[in-house]
Amino acid sequence: MVLRLGSVAPNFKAITTKGEIDFHQYIEGSWAILFSHPADFTPVCTTELGEVARRANDFAERNVKVIGLSANELKDHENWVKDIDEVNNVHVDFPIIADADRKVSALYDMLDYQDITNVDTKGIPFTVRSVFIIDTKKVIRLIITYPASTGRNFDEVIRVIDSLQLGDKHRITTPANWRKGDDVIVHPGVTNQEAAELFPGFRTVKPYLRFAPSPF
Ligand code: BEZ
Repeated sequence: MVLRLGSVAPNFKAITTKGEIDFHQYIEGSWAILFSHPADFTPVCTTELGEVARRANDFAERNVKVIGLSANELKDHENWVKDIDEVNNVHVDFPIIADADRKVSALYDMLDYQDITNVDTKGIPFTVRSVFIIDTKKVIRLIITYPASTGRNFDEVIRVIDSLQLGDKHRITTPANWRKGDDVIVHPGVTNQEAAELFPGFRTVKPYLRFAPSPF
């Protein structure tokens, strides 16, 4: 199954550091981020999970549930989380899927087909750094894939959530490098007459490029 923007995020049951989870039940009524990590006790992953724990309030205030995944056993996860907490001075309070059998990784096409060093002792690929943003209807709204060697930018992940949530509420899109609070773009489907009502003071740069103050 190919997952694309607009696909319904496939459901699964998995063992996690917070017990067994039915994914759809876990994310019911929330936005969600599902993100994979190559392996436990690896340096880049340790910084990433620490950063996501540190940003817990940013996700909570946007109604986003976070769920990590790493292709190792639960016991390893439990020991590794102690390290993550210690090293980053945080408390990892979101579930991490123990995906040693790669069931969820395969379902979400997260396995590494490029880096031949990113494999377990049996030569089975670990995962790359996949990120899925999923909305309250369980629809996939963003997919990003980073190589194992590059830690993710979670400011960017939060920025996209802000853009998507704002675009769902108002008829707007967001320009390059937009950040919460910056001017937005009036959606091309909005007529000038509608724009005058919806976005008083909108400005036209080109007929197809109209900016308006952020509706935040
Ligand atoms: C890391 O987290 O540092 C890492 C994991 C697998 C391959 C490369 C880097």
